[in-house]
Amino acid sequence: MIGEPLLEVRDLSITFRTPAGVAQAVTGSSFTIAPGERVGMVGESGSGKSLTGLSLLGLLPPAAEVSGEVLLDGRNLLATPERELRAVRGREVSMIFQEPMTALDPVFTVGQQISATFRAHRGVGRAEAKRRAIDLLGEVGIPEPARRFREYPHQLSGGMRQRAMIAMALVCEPRLLVADEPTTALDVTIQAQVLELIAQLSRDRGTAVLLITHDLGVVAETCDRVLTMYAGQIVERCSTDDALEFPRHPYTSGLLAAIPRPGVAAEDLRSIPGRVPSPVDLPPGCRFGPRCDHHQPRCDEAQELTEAAPGRWVRCCRHAELDLPGAVEMIG
Ligand SMILES: Nc1ncnc2c1ncn2[C@@H]1O[C@H](COP(=O)(O)OP(=O)(O)OP(=O)(O)O)[C@@H](O)[C@H]1O
Ligand code: SF4
Ligand SMILES: [Mg+2]
Repeated sequence: MIGEPLLEVRDLSITFRTPAGVAQAVTGSSFTIAPGERVGMVGESGSGKSLTGLSLLGLLPPAAEVSGEVLLDGRNLLATPERELRAVRGREVSMIFQEPMTALDPVFTVGQQISATFRAHRGVGRAEAKRRAIDLLGEVGIPEPARRFREYPHQLSGGMRQRAMIAMALVCEPRLLVADEPTTALDVTIQAQVLELIAQLSRDRGTAVLLITHDLGVVAETCDRVLTMYAGQIVERCSTDDALEFPRHPYTSGLLAAIPRPGVAAEDLRSIPGRVPSPVDLPPGCRFGPRCDHHQPRCDEAQELTEAAPGRWVRCCRHAELDLPGAVEMIG
């Protein structure tokens, strides 16, 4: 990568003490995001995606035990006091969620909320805040922004609410936007529009994005690079094109086979057999081993993330010898 990364996560691990034992939610995660870059994080439920996203804002639950570093411009957010983190949130790193009602207050109009954020963070007066809020609502593709400004969140459709939340997240022009399953609750057409909006805003404003999703298809449309997560570990880290064309990790290949595509009925999509292991009871060797068609005895050793080719990292001892199907073979 050229130039300094905006974000550098080094050896991030997150655990919880539970009655059933220590839950290893995230183990030894390392990745970077360059200014303006869009990076996707994919994996099934429980793979540690949301916790990783929350760690970038210093918003991990208090019970979480954390090690490693989350460096934003070289400053470790995991060692930054809460009062200083408040200045980072929104201004440097902002987050949007699957459910906009968690970020929007039902008792205030959309306009009141966005202009209040402008006034609080940007120090502008009431009239100027209103003008900027209406401009921003227009920029995120809300039609008739001056009218929508006066409406309450429940008066907006799901897609419009999601756009309003994106507008809220952009008020302070953050350099990194963490989007955690931002389109999962929306229907497919609206999903595509919201993703395109996120990609467009990122291009126009130079905002870096970490897009968290369980759907590799969503990443394919939006992101430059992809991090595949399995049971708390990054198992493959590479460009989106590489992941789609020739995945090197059996799990990435498995996720590709599950992407909905034209001409293939939903029941014919190959889901990966078996289940993600419990974080309190992980297999000792390769965490994907019990579900992997390519398992061999040497997979029962712990697997390291190794550089398979320049910029291409894989956590699988068999990556060089396997010829795994990518998205192209599956469509063809
Ligand atoms: N407060 C907590 N206490 C104990 N375990 C937790 C806690 N929060 C999260 N975990 C565990 O950490 C693991 C990772 O959770 P996380 O929410 O990051 O997964 P995810 O990849 O975002 O999943 P999903 O796709 O369902 O959103 C899960 O197994 C979860 O049960
Ligand atoms: S290390 Fe072995 S079990 Fe794990 S993904 Fe690779 S081939 Fe499959
Ligand atoms: Mg999640």
